Amino acid sequence: MREGKPVDKILVTGGAGYIGSHTVRELAAQGFEPVTLDNLSEGHREAVVTGPLEVGDLADEAFLDDLFSRHSISAVMHFASRCYVGESVTNPKLYYEENVGNAMTLLGVMLKHDVKRFILSSTCATYGDPIEVPISESHPQDPVNPYGETKYFIERILKQYDRAYSLRFVSLRYFNAAGDSLDGLIGESHDPETHLIPRILQTAQGKYDYIEVFGTDYPTPDGTCIRDYIHVLDLAAAHIAAVRWLEAGKASDFFNLGTGNGYSVRAMLEMAEQVTGMKIPVKMGSRREGDPAELVADASKANQQLGWTPQVSDLRTVMETAWNWELKRRY
Ligand SMILES: NC(=O)c1ccc[n+]([C@@H]2O[C@H](COP(=O)([O-])OP(=O)(O)OC[C@H]3O[C@@H](n4cnc5c(N)ncnc54)[C@H](O)[C@@H]3O)[C@@H](O)[C@H]2O)c1
Repeated sequence: MREGKPVDKILVTGGAGYIGSHTVRELAAQGFEPVTLDNLSEGHREAVVTGPLEVGDLADEAFLDDLFSRHSISAVMHFASRCYVGESVTNPKLYYEENVGNAMTLLGVMLKHDVKRFILSSTCATYGDPIEVPISESHPQDPVNPYGETKYFIERILKQYDRAYSLRFVSLRYFNAAGDSLDGLIGESHDPETHLIPRILQTAQGKYDYIEVFGTDYPTPDGTCIRDYIHVLDLAAAHIAAVRWLEAGKASDFFNLGTGNGYSVRAMLEMAEQVTGMKIPVKMGSRREGDPAELVADASKANQQLGWTPQVSDLRTVMETAWNWELKRRY
């Protein structure tokens, strides 16, 4: 049973960023009409390869109001966010103001224009230090940094807006987004780049002298941290499944997005050396504060309920698409 009209035009905030741009492309491929909103603070004009790009800031309520008046939006995917854990610790004000404040502004304008379907880019950082792995959605949420806390706040706001205003949402808690488009047209480009795979590959290209491994004495088989890497195209596919979920009139819910397989930093380095055919200089460093030893998803809920299973998240495909992007990168 459908609730209201089918979803066609979708506002994608942060659609010029890494995960948003891959999702915009997938939405268009699936017959939706994505409209990208981005202030280009971290995103790239060249990353928006289809549909209109509205350049503006989420904090600008008049801009949002005008955008919703000009486009007949039927759902919103909210990627735009400050995303640096370390920065959130030193400048929490920025994170609460922008991540929580902007989400509230956006939700307010949505309600004004009677748009009641919302998909949130949430994160495994809402769980904090795991008390058990793999982490399921029923794991307690106790974020250990302001970044994770802001996403947890938004989730709680959404629950209350659902109850009070019938705003239906899907919160997707990503583990580590990784990999790039299969054709190398779009890909990950952050400055500074903090994600492990691009850092490793850029070290292979000589952009950095070495890659530092933060901690080799964790209680893991090889002593380095273990993470669950999910291909950005599988994340994009999960957003399509989430739209269909809301379109079918299903209830608001939360889903982990990961593979259920964890790889250590050493395993990532080995795969990078295989894929590039190069020896990558490594410096063994000490632990970073707040890095849990192991973060691996139990994504069975998304598998069973959204009908979503990762298709391209095997480690070799992740690394090969990332390397292809580094070799071809346009921005
Ligand atoms: N990359 C990951 O591994 C990961 C993991 C978990 C969750 N997430 C979440 O997924 C989302 C997307 O992450 P990403 O890696 O693609 O980040 P990104 O920085 O590449 O993309 C975010 C985009 O939002 C835009 N933006 C930021 N503030 C804005 C504002 N005030 N107004 C308009 N545009 C604004 C930026 O210009 C950028 O294009 C974020 O919400 C992030 O918290 C990412």
